[in-house]
Amino acid sequence: MFKFSALVALVTLVPAFTSAQSGLYGQCGGIGWSGSTSCVSGATCTKLNDYYSQCLPGSAAPTSAPAPTSAPTTAPTSAPGSPTTSNAPQPTAVPADNPYTGYDIFLSPFYQDEVAAAVTKISDASLKAKAAKVADIPNFTWFDVIAKVPTLGTYLSQANDKAKSTGKKQLLQIVVYDLPDRDCAALASNGEFSIANNGLANYKNYIDQIVAQVKKFPDVRVVAVIEPDSLANLVTNLNVQKCSGAQDAYKQGVTYAIQQLNTVGVYMYLDAGHAGWLGWSANLTPAAQLFAQLYKGAGSPKFVRGLATNVANYNALSASSPDPITQGNSNYDEIHYINALAPALSSQGFPAKFLVDQGRSGVQNIRKEWGDWCNVKGAGFGQRPTLNTGSSLIDAIVWVKPGGECDGTSDTSAVRYDAHCGLSDAAPNAPEAGSWFQSYFETLVANANPPL
Ligand code: BGC
Repeated sequence: MFKFSALVALVTLVPAFTSAQSGLYGQCGGIGWSGSTSCVSGATCTKLNDYYSQCLPGSAAPTSAPAPTSAPTTAPTSAPGSPTTSNAPQPTAVPADNPYTGYDIFLSPFYQDEVAAAVTKISDASLKAKAAKVADIPNFTWFDVIAKVPTLGTYLSQANDKAKSTGKKQLLQIVVYDLPDRDCAALASNGEFSIANNGLANYKNYIDQIVAQVKKFPDVRVVAVIEPDSLANLVTNLNVQKCSGAQDAYKQGVTYAIQQLNTVGVYMYLDAGHAGWLGWSANLTPAAQLFAQLYKGAGSPKFVRGLATNVANYNALSASSPDPITQGNSNYDEIHYINALAPALSSQGFPAKFLVDQGRSGVQNIRKEWGDWCNVKGAGFGQRPTLNTGSSLIDAIVWVKPGGECDGTSDTSAVRYDAHCGLSDAAPNAPEAGSWFQSYFETLVANANPPL
């Protein structure tokens, strides 16, 4: 991937029958909360603020939240464009139209298997115990090759069974990532389809196969991040021949994807790079124009909910102070970027909501340059997925990049070697993009913030 020039719990929001305990990372209290105030075994109901208590791993008593004392109220949120005055998330009421509302996130079996295998390789007992916890944190499953699509059917079927056995509606998080001439401004994640060789038709077939799987399980909700880096590359990297050559195919491919996935009710967020990429003032307006044009050109599909930012990147949602590498960009973190982008989109007819990836954003000020995106050394797992985002523009803080999967190989002789993966702030001995990078995973665990 190229990343520059850059719950959840789900919230078992509102189980109608409230005797069930909230799941790990589920909501278990807060003003206006009427669901269960106790957590499943192994989790403790922890008050995060007056509006939100969450089942976090651990077994310390007490396991239920004190009943709220004041009446439900609309939570304050910062106005678009206003500076954040505090690093702490402000409490927000979770709106009913947020696709995550009322659903449990189905944990990615693919990632759970990767983490389970990784845990067996760790000998230090404390690190091992922390690493094991990662398997229970919701993550996205990437469909980066067409050959993986049949497994989507398996996961949907498992999620469907789980909904039946637990009585809790399930939501599956996926990344749609197989455009022809993928990763046009970088080398590390070049994909399987080429425009010159029937790539667009192959991509449509890939989308059709996803649609066919989703259609079989109408009760499982699917949330999808659409094509990381693709449209952002069209905003800033048309000087790269592969990107200008891919422009039409990317637009047609993404349009096809959102129109078709819309027919089966997949909630979609188009990837929007991050603050250090499209957040620069010169890039914001063209970015908003491109996203809005594409959205409206596709017929403003009902299930296109908005944009996803910081996917696989390292930016804070709300930085306590600007990292020196962000100098010159007033949108120095994701909340500033989102607050600047949202009104520009709205004014063009795209009232977007956002997902923000914080999976690897636990440690700040670790990059030499903002454009460094590959296996950045010293990174740690970040804020846990939650609907308590502190902003009415943000539907959920999520983990999109499965931490431990590599960004790109550091082998200079590899076909997909990208120089960013050989920089001094990139971890050495890195395998191919998407492959498991054990030592990097262990560092993410050790550096997790909040700690695991
Ligand atoms: C890789 C994909 C992988 C994804 C998630 C990308 O950089 O190219 O193969 O699925 O990251 O780890």
